Amino acid sequence: MTALTLSTSGASALRADAIVIGVGKGAKGPVVAAGAEAVDQAYDGRLAGVLETLGASGAEGEVTKVPAPAGFKAPLLVAVGLGAEPDGDAGYRAEALRRAAGAAARALAGAKKAGFALPLSDAADAGAVAEGALLGAYAFDTYKANGKDTKGKNGKGPLAEVALLGGKPRDKAYKAAVERAATVVGELNRARDLVNTPPNDLDPEAFAAVASAAGKEHGIKVQVLDEKALAKGGYGGILGVGAGSAAPPRLVKLSYTHPEAAMHLAYVGKGITYDSGGISLKPAGHNETMKCDMSGAAAVFAAVVAAARLGLKVNVTGWLALAENMPSGTATRPGDVLRMYSGKTVEVLNTDAEGRLVLADALWAASQEKPDAIVDVATLTGAMVLALGNRTFGVMGNDEAFRAAIVDAAESVGEASWPMPLPEHLRKGMDSPTADLANMGERMGGGLVAGLFLREFVGEGITWAHLDIAGPAFNEGGPFGYTPKGGTGSSVRTLVRLAELTASGDLG
Ligand code: BES
Ligand code: MN
Ligand code: ZN
Repeated sequence: MTALTLSTSGASALRADAIVIGVGKGAKGPVVAAGAEAVDQAYDGRLAGVLETLGASGAEGEVTKVPAPAGFKAPLLVAVGLGAEPDGDAGYRAEALRRAAGAAARALAGAKKAGFALPLSDAADAGAVAEGALLGAYAFDTYKANGKDTKGKNGKGPLAEVALLGGKPRDKAYKAAVERAATVVGELNRARDLVNTPPNDLDPEAFAAVASAAGKEHGIKVQVLDEKALAKGGYGGILGVGAGSAAPPRLVKLSYTHPEAAMHLAYVGKGITYDSGGISLKPAGHNETMKCDMSGAAAVFAAVVAAARLGLKVNVTGWLALAENMPSGTATRPGDVLRMYSGKTVEVLNTDAEGRLVLADALWAASQEKPDAIVDVATLTGAMVLALGNRTFGVMGNDEAFRAAIVDAAESVGEASWPMPLPEHLRKGMDSPTADLANMGERMGGGLVAGLFLREFVGEGITWAHLDIAGPAFNEGGPFGYTPKGGTGSSVRTLVRLAELTASGDLG
């Protein structure tokens, strides 16, 4: 991953490929943000005018490249838009810094080193810039033939080194903020890698192997239930979904424990390594990106490892419900009835509503330990994408205060989410004449129907929330801010924040 340091160097003295500065959108045009005073001086205080001449406005995400002034060791200045200038003495919002740093890092792909001279009011701002830069510098080039005969045609590789200027390298709070950023983003970027890895190389077994290796490295206990253990344990949901695939399913349990922990969180992730729809096959146009259907499991995995690496005083158990949803002669048919791990029976009316089936078993397994709260994360429904769009995940649950706390935690780390209801009247749509319930209900409100299905498999009295990340998990459009094309790492930062808040007893 991109290296990151807090540097005491001034902008002119730094040996680097570029210096990054911030530009706000002022009432009368672009305004050079704090942190770039020395740079502006080198232009005799006329930098804002120079940028305006070049067409810059300070709009969020805007990148303007200018030759660096005489006397600078770096040849290039990258001015990045921060959006509307804040009122009075208030600094820029952390999310504006994150996005600007991300856009700048993306614009510098292929460069060796850049100095970031963005406005920093405190250590938290330094953390935000570090996060944005490391998130924006992400590149997935595992499958590009770099360095071979195609050199130059392929990805340029990420910006290799970021030096944060204007921070306080000897200040404990600054150091902690950038270290936290590097840890969280390191794991988040690994989640992106897993999502981007093609499904022929990441089947349930391969994913479980990655989790086992990471567990060993970071002192997390990992237990893997293979297809035999799943059959013995009666995990009919996970087995039913995996039945059509040549690659058998897995249930992975990751246990991070801290000796002084007072609370126990369980995170449950949907890990469909490829969702073809099964016998209810998805049509062309709906299956090309379905390698992303394990994004929930990837987020849970990343969050548990990050919690361990941060040494948070909270026990976090991650459950990865891994299966490949394929059609074949052994696949579950529409009309089949599955006996779930909880003992309930489910009539499978549509094999493409598979996420809720694997999650049901994992939620019930998680419930057996009676954690203080369970949060599941899943690319669960197209309906949630229709409702909230591509950048916002839906939050449902059985406890309004907990649901609100999750939305707040997400907001505080720069993730967009929205509370969604679980209307009771939608439950009867899943009544089945044959089994305890069906895996489908009314079409209208499909995201909420899926949430109501999951609720049936949460242990009595356990606080639970469900994050439907089908929209933001995978970016099919162009990159923006710190968000790349492809896997985004959606919900990782929210899950880490939730663990931090639980550890410190500050969950509001
Ligand atoms: N993995 C899909 C949901 C999805 C859609 C994720 C778009 C990411 C982007 C899920 O398994 C699915 O197929 N859901 C069905 C449920 C329906 C059959 C009740 C859906 O949303 O159409
Ligand atoms: Mn599906
Ligand atoms: Zn799916």
